[in-house]
Amino acid sequence: MNIAVILASGKGTRMNNSTPKQYIRVGGMPLIVRVLNQFVPLVDKIILVVNKDYVKEAQNIIKDYKNIELVLGGETRFQSLINGTKRAYEIDKNCVVISHDGARPFVSKQIINSSLEEIEKYDATTVSIPAIDTMVIVENNIETKVLDREYLYSDQGPQTFRAEMFFNVLDNENYSTVGELYVKKGLKVGVIEGDRYNFKVTHNIDLEFAEYLIEKGLI
Ligand code: CTP
Ligand code: MG
Repeated sequence: MNIAVILASGKGTRMNNSTPKQYIRVGGMPLIVRVLNQFVPLVDKIILVVNKDYVKEAQNIIKDYKNIELVLGGETRFQSLINGTKRAYEIDKNCVVISHDGARPFVSKQIINSSLEEIEKYDATTVSIPAIDTMVIVENNIETKVLDREYLYSDQGPQTFRAEMFFNVLDNENYSTVGELYVKKGLKVGVIEGDRYNFKVTHNIDLEFAEYLIEKGLI
């Protein structure tokens, strides 16, 4: 089985909006609904990981779908990923998990399909795009190093991995993504090329951009 684990348990503190960004309506529907609609036709089941304070909102959203269930998130993104993946493993211990940020509404079906196909070749996959700006290390307002952009990518996701392998290698550290855990364990993480529409809504300007893309029919 292919099971999507959609991470929607964050509070969106960088947006200064009382509603967490994934529940903000853009172009007539909450961002999280756009994410769910992209995954529904392409996976067997969806686990939506939500914050305990937003269970009502989430229940209201998933009542129109057959194959979505809710799981409570944790303190960190990675803990939320663990919680969702546990449920996926209970449903099918041989499943492939495709995890995605609930705040990345414009992931294409092509990216989802490639991720589900490419997992055959690797221990995990992720979706990344080459860094645009020159990336530098800054310490106390002083630039201390300029990095070689050839090797720098922005990691977007979704990520795919097998639930069983995930729990075999999981330790007690916190990670930003499954990719970070797998790289540390010496496993092979294949990279699929992403696109700039698959951005993560993070600041208010991203909402304006999202609105513009929808209005112009660009996504
Ligand atoms: N996320 C989660 N559980 C957490 C923290 C984050 O499921 N404890 C999810 C968010 O809902 C989001 C994704 O992980 O879809 C990426 O995280 P991020 O962009 O950092 O979202 P927030 O943590 O909500 O935002 P901020 O960091 O600005 O507070
Ligand atoms: Mg965060």
